[in-house]
Amino acid sequence: MKFLILNGPNLNLLGRREPGIYGQNSYEALCARLRDFAAAHASTADCVQSNHEGVLIDAIHAADGVYDAIVMNPGAYTHYSYAILDALKAVNVPCMEVHISNVHQREAFRHTSVTAPACVGQICGLGLFGYECAMSYFLSRETPDSG
Ligand code: DQA
Repeated sequence: MKFLILNGPNLNLLGRREPGIYGQNSYEALCARLRDFAAAHASTADCVQSNHEGVLIDAIHAADGVYDAIVMNPGAYTHYSYAILDALKAVNVPCMEVHISNVHQREAFRHTSVTAPACVGQICGLGLFGYECAMSYFLSRETPDSG
């Protein structure tokens, strides 16, 4: 499978940014880990990160017909970007939303995702493992009778 791993604002600062919440591992380490995970499953993972909404939207548009699945952590855009919601609805690529932290244990504004309705599901609170869970879900769908 071809995966697009899309990360939104401030996720380039993983490892330095609030490590008590987001962990010690860098964004580069996350990408290396996901590329290895994909390779171990005869797949590829391209990682795109941006602090700009339009760049994320362009990446979603460009994914159509190119990627089999998007694994997306929109960062704070999760909570208010109707433009990213619309972009996901505009393409035919399934997307899983991932949050490193358990957003439901945090401030009230993080409890709402405006982007999740355009996703097949949402994984949160599992740390970086959540990205691999999302990829595993899509990989399992390739196998008949996998449920
Ligand atoms: C986050 C949660 C968001 O509320 C926050 O704005 C982020 C990261 C997460 O991965 O837990 O930037 O998406």
